[in-house]
Amino acid sequence: MIINTELEHKGNQYPNHIVFYEKNINTLLFKTENGVSLQLTIVRDSILRFRYASFVNFENDFSYAITKYAKTGYNHLEVTETDQYYIVTTSKLICNINKSNLKISIFDSLDFSLICEDEIGYHWEESYDFGGNIVKMSKVSNDGESYYGLGDKPDHLNLKGKRFENWVSDSFAFGKYTDPLYKAIPFYTGLHHGKSYGIFFDNSFKSCFDFAHERKNITSFWAYGGEMNYYFMYGPKMTDVVANYTDLTGKPHQLPALWSLGYHQCKWSYYPENKVKEITSKFRELNIPCDAIYLDIDYMEGFRCFTWNKDYFPDPKRIVKELADEGFKTIVIIDPGIKIDPDYHVFQEALDKDYFCKRADGPYMKGKVWPGQCYFPDFTKAEVRDWWSDLFKELVEDIGVRGVWNDMNEPAVMEVPNKTFPDDVRHDYEGNPCSHRKAHNVYGMQMARATYHGLKKFAYPKRPFVITRAAYSGTQRYSSSWTGDNIASWEHLWIANVQAQRMSLSGFSFIGSDIGGFAEQPNGELYARWIQLGVFHPFCRTHSSGDHGEQEPWMFGDEVTDIVRSFIELRYQLLPYLYTAFWQYLDEGIPILKSLVLYDQDDIQTHYRTDEFMYGNDILVCPILEPNSKGRRMYIPRGKWYNFWTKELIKGGREIWIDTDLDTMPIFIKAGSIIPKYPVQLYVGEKEIDEVVLEVHYKLGKAQSLLFDDIHDGYDYTKGRYSLSKFKLNGKANELIIQQHTTGKFITPYTRFKLKFIGLPFSISKIEVDNVAIDLPNLNEVKTNFELIVDKNFTEIHLM
Ligand code: GLC
Repeated sequence: MIINTELEHKGNQYPNHIVFYEKNINTLLFKTENGVSLQLTIVRDSILRFRYASFVNFENDFSYAITKYAKTGYNHLEVTETDQYYIVTTSKLICNINKSNLKISIFDSLDFSLICEDEIGYHWEESYDFGGNIVKMSKVSNDGESYYGLGDKPDHLNLKGKRFENWVSDSFAFGKYTDPLYKAIPFYTGLHHGKSYGIFFDNSFKSCFDFAHERKNITSFWAYGGEMNYYFMYGPKMTDVVANYTDLTGKPHQLPALWSLGYHQCKWSYYPENKVKEITSKFRELNIPCDAIYLDIDYMEGFRCFTWNKDYFPDPKRIVKELADEGFKTIVIIDPGIKIDPDYHVFQEALDKDYFCKRADGPYMKGKVWPGQCYFPDFTKAEVRDWWSDLFKELVEDIGVRGVWNDMNEPAVMEVPNKTFPDDVRHDYEGNPCSHRKAHNVYGMQMARATYHGLKKFAYPKRPFVITRAAYSGTQRYSSSWTGDNIASWEHLWIANVQAQRMSLSGFSFIGSDIGGFAEQPNGELYARWIQLGVFHPFCRTHSSGDHGEQEPWMFGDEVTDIVRSFIELRYQLLPYLYTAFWQYLDEGIPILKSLVLYDQDDIQTHYRTDEFMYGNDILVCPILEPNSKGRRMYIPRGKWYNFWTKELIKGGREIWIDTDLDTMPIFIKAGSIIPKYPVQLYVGEKEIDEVVLEVHYKLGKAQSLLFDDIHDGYDYTKGRYSLSKFKLNGKANELIIQQHTTGKFITPYTRFKLKFIGLPFSISKIEVDNVAIDLPNLNEVKTNFELIVDKNFTEIHLM
């Protein structure tokens, strides 16, 4: 159903003039003569929340998306009044509320520039079928405005000119432009005149966003129920907008265990157990690093969750232990559909306790999934989630499973036209009973949340690892995610790149795609190119549907195996860099992957780029997205960059051609950065790490890099047992100074750094470490690219 949001639309109703105003600490209430209320809350100096109600009271204020840990509080708040407006001023924003029509205009309080302005603003249409309203908002789209965000849309990064829907959907073999997909993340950022703001429309009903598509100068959004309830966030830097959104909807509750940042191997399905072992042994035999192996639905007895097929896996605890002894963590799939079978304890228990979802008139919500006819737990009820989380005791505590993969949690239902529950299904929604229209988009999120708590409880003191397919805003607190059932095609490699960047910009950093494609079969070249991209995604897993052949790294001939190995090795070398980036994401809320526009919004060249992205703060990556490529053109952002392969220093702010045979891809390191590297390991923890390499990229001027480390699992880091090194680099024409400042109580197992200097423009005549001259026997031979081993606790290194 497409809703026309235009003014002429017959059913639309609009607020008229304000007749009542009241201020209660940080919340302002306005009422119009025709019965519309606006509640405006000053969340922070740069975040305003707008809630509207028409003729009725506001709903119970409840949100699955907003975290209780979100920062609140502001430095300045003043409300003044003129004939025409109420004017709210904070240290960052000025918000005008028009007295005659409730329209909003928001300005930067420093330079008074207009950031975001209502066109019609709030309006609504009564919903005859369901009661309540279809709530709508329209805003002026500014000259040259670009739009980003919105989760997993497989479309150009810049959303301008497009319209999208948010309705979490099982989308097997989706295509470029398929909408909606598996995620509902109603958050976008606008960027115009060098300034960025964000809007998070926290409404879990089906919602739509129109970015100057229907009408050239108008951006609008609406939902088919609930309240017009949105947060406005101001930057002006887009990184601040995204950080604010991520702070509101939450960061992951803990760092991922380091192993979960390793490489994962998956297929539908590896069984029986000797097949699993054949695969894992092959990884070790071929020296290809891998940390996790997945069991898809066939490990279960007739696809009943929390059971094992004893023919395939006669002794789950033994096999999981045997795999663990080889460094493999076992991850199992768990779906929401519970097979209707009175002899199945999970089914019987949920039935006895009345935990299954029901239709409006009382029957259970019955639907077909892998096990046949199923009932589905109502994860929107705390008691049901507690019960669900307890079901993991045996899997996690006794058997030793290390991660759980939640799938089909849109929820997907087979052989029905809408592929999910009908609208009338009832949900608890945390004591705010509602239909599936409201709960649909959060169902998968609440399943992942319940699963997360199960893992957290029974894996303790180890960190939980969950992966989910469906998500609503805030799911990043509990789980990682993948982009669903893609296809082994070059187009899907492009899609995977865009989706991972877009999810990152939408607060969700722990994301990756099915490497190589889920449906159909890649050739060796496509698989190699996909691995090259995939090792730069925070979640890195090959997955495929077994129908189309094998998709392990060695299935495409020796050349491809070698390429795949070398890129997975690179991922393992860069683990301390990725772990630090993850820690920074938790600390600041700025995503690990940064689209170029997020990295440098002041450079308008970045506003329409899609392929290039930053991995962490210092590594620029651009995948090869076409077959038979000997290279490609790419945009290098402003500043100076070292080609990762050739170490050549180049100046950015321009598009250039990069040669890349199949065994390389474009990777650049920002001048001034210090990149930490571990030795290659076949799995995290294989080796005792006694030395960390620091690749120091010379720059004329100053730069700063970080290295975060801890014990790689558990919660000790939250009690100060981490080590955070800040490296300050200062490059001069004939000198380079590196200072280190370390905080935290963790004593790293490694005692030395091996510094490799890249791009030194001068010949070294003297080196001092903490003011002591180093006796270098071959100093005369030391020229430019050389290595220096120093105590890990150095405070200053001086090269002259
Ligand atoms: C869904 C998942 C896929 C999984 C399959 C079988 O299609 O998206 O990853 O392998 O179900 O469980």
